[in-house]
Amino acid sequence: MTLTKQLTLVVSDAFEACGYDRSLGTVTVSDRPELCQFQCNGAFGGAKLHRKAPAMIAGDVAAKLAENPMFAKAEVAMPGFLNLTLKDEALAAMAMVLGTEERPLVEQVGKDKTVIVDYGGPNVAKPLHIGHLRPAIIGEAIKRLCKASGYRTIGDIHLGDWGLQIGLVIAELRERNPEWRVFADDFNADTDDVPTLDVDLLQEVYPFASGKSKQDDAFKATAQQATYELQSGRPGFMALWKEILRVSVEDLKQNYNRLNVFFELWLGESDAEAFVEPLVATLREQGLLRESEGALVVDLATEEDTAPMPPVIIKKSDNSSLYATTDLATIIQRQRDYAPEKIWYVVDKRQSLHFDQVFRCAKKASLVPDACDLKHLGFGTINGADGKPFKTRDGGVMQLQTLLETVTEAALDKLKNSDYLNSLSDGEKRTVAEKVGVAAIKFGDLINHRAKDYIFDMDKFLSFEGKTGTYLLYNITRIHSVLKKIDAEASAPIVITEDAERELVLKLLLTAEAFEKALAEQAPNLVCENAYLIAQAFSKMYHDCPVANEADAEKRASRVNLCRLTRDVLLMHLDVLGIDAVENM
Ligand code: ARG
Repeated sequence: MTLTKQLTLVVSDAFEACGYDRSLGTVTVSDRPELCQFQCNGAFGGAKLHRKAPAMIAGDVAAKLAENPMFAKAEVAMPGFLNLTLKDEALAAMAMVLGTEERPLVEQVGKDKTVIVDYGGPNVAKPLHIGHLRPAIIGEAIKRLCKASGYRTIGDIHLGDWGLQIGLVIAELRERNPEWRVFADDFNADTDDVPTLDVDLLQEVYPFASGKSKQDDAFKATAQQATYELQSGRPGFMALWKEILRVSVEDLKQNYNRLNVFFELWLGESDAEAFVEPLVATLREQGLLRESEGALVVDLATEEDTAPMPPVIIKKSDNSSLYATTDLATIIQRQRDYAPEKIWYVVDKRQSLHFDQVFRCAKKASLVPDACDLKHLGFGTINGADGKPFKTRDGGVMQLQTLLETVTEAALDKLKNSDYLNSLSDGEKRTVAEKVGVAAIKFGDLINHRAKDYIFDMDKFLSFEGKTGTYLLYNITRIHSVLKKIDAEASAPIVITEDAERELVLKLLLTAEAFEKALAEQAPNLVCENAYLIAQAFSKMYHDCPVANEADAEKRASRVNLCRLTRDVLLMHLDVLGIDAVENM
C-alpha cells in the first residue's frame, strides 16, 4: 500500500470513530510542505453531509488523530483543513523496510495480469533513424513500468516486414542481379542458392529504389507486382525476403541493444497473415462486413460520434489487406496466445484515427473481451532548434547509428577533464561515454510527456544541472564513492535528525505514489520527475550532513544506510527508464 493510502485508512478510521462518514478521509501530499507533510480536506465534504461547520469536524478528527503516536502534528487550519505531519521515528521505521515485502517500492497491482506493449514498429530494410528513437525509448519504459508494478509483460516489435518496402528492394535487386536463382521461375528452395546480403547493401538499395519509384512509374508497378507475388508466396521471393529479414533483424537488434531496448517478441506484419482469413470469417459470420465499391469494410460510426468515423477497410477490391487488417489479425493472435488484460500501442500520435478504428472494430467483433484495455499511447515529434522535425546539418534524416556516435563524442568532450575517464583505456572510455550519452538522450526524451513534441538539444541533455540523465548518473556516482569509502554495517537504524534527512526519507517513501500515477497515466516522465526530486533531496542531504566525516557513529551509520537506500531507489528508477548507471564518471 502506498503511504498516502495507508494514511487515508488511518484518517478514515478517525472520521468514523467521530461519527462521520469514512469516505471523507482521503489523504494527499501537502500542497504547502512548509506547513505540513500531508493534508486531508474531507471536512469540507463533511459539512454538507453532516450539517456541521468544517472546522468542527476537522477539530474532532484532529483530536482523535492526536492520540495516534505516528503523528507529530494533526491540526486544523482554518477554515477546516486537516494538516498532518509524521513523527521522525515513524518515517525512519518505514524507511527501514522500504523495498521489502512489507513496503514495496512500487505497488504490485499487476499481479497475475498480462500486458502486451507494441512498440518499435520499424519497417524492415530501412535503416533506423532518429524517428525510431521515441517509440523504442518510451515503449521500453512503459513496459518496464508495468513490469515493476507486477505485470507479466510482453514487448512485441511488430516489424513492418510485409509491405511495399520489401517489394521495392526485391525489384531493385532483380534489376541489378537478374541472374540470381531466386528470381528464376523454376527456383527450387531445396537445391538453389540464396545470395547472402549485408546491411550496407540494404541501406543503399532501399532509399535508391524508393527514390526511383517516385520518378519511374514502370518501376513502381514492378515493385508493387513483386510485393503482390511475395505476399502470394512465390518461393524465390520468399527465400530472398527471409534473407532481407535476417540481415535487418540482426542490425536492428544491435542498434536497439545499444539503447537498452529489448523485445520479447520479434513478430511482424507477416505473422499476421495467417490470421487474416479467420478475421474475415468472423466478421462475415457476425454480419459486420459490408461491400463498398468492391472493397470489404466494417462500419464503425455511432450516434454519439461528434467527429467523423469512417468505416475501416478490411480488404481492398484486389483482395489485398491493409494496415488495419494486419493490426486486427494480430489482435486475434495475441488474444489466442496470451489473453492479455491490456494491449498498449506506443506509436506516433498521428496514427490516432487508425487505432480508433482498429479498437472499435476489435471490440465490435469481440476479438478481445470487453474488459481488455486496448490503448494507443501516441507520442510527439523530436524537433530541431528551429522547431521543425530534427534534421542533420545537410538536411537529411539522422540515422540512429550516427546519433549514437554523435552523443558518445559529445559525452567524451563533456567529460574531458574527468580524472577517472582519463585513467581509462580508450575503449573503456568510450564505453562509459556511450552510457552517459545514451542516458542523456533517453532522459532528455522521457522527461517530456510522451504526447508532447520536444527539441533535441544535446548540450542541455548532457548538462550536470537540472533535470538530466547526467545529473542523475552523477549523483549516483557520488553515492558509490561515499559507500566505497566507508564500510558501515548493512542495516544500521535510520535516525532522522536534520531537515534534509527528513526530506530525503519522505521523497523516497513517496516513490510508490509517483509510480502509481505514472502507470495510471502511462507517463514515464513522472518517473523521471521523481528520480530528479530524489537526486535533488540527496544532494541537499549530502551538502548539509557530513557522512564519512560525521563524528557520531550512530548518525554516520544511519547516513550511510540512507545513502545506500537512495542509491537502490534511484537505480530502480533508472532501470524502469532503461538507463544504465556508471560506477564513476
Ligand atoms: N510500421 C509502422 C509504421 O512505420 C508502425 C507500426 C506500429 N504498430 C502497430 N501495431 N501498428 O508506421
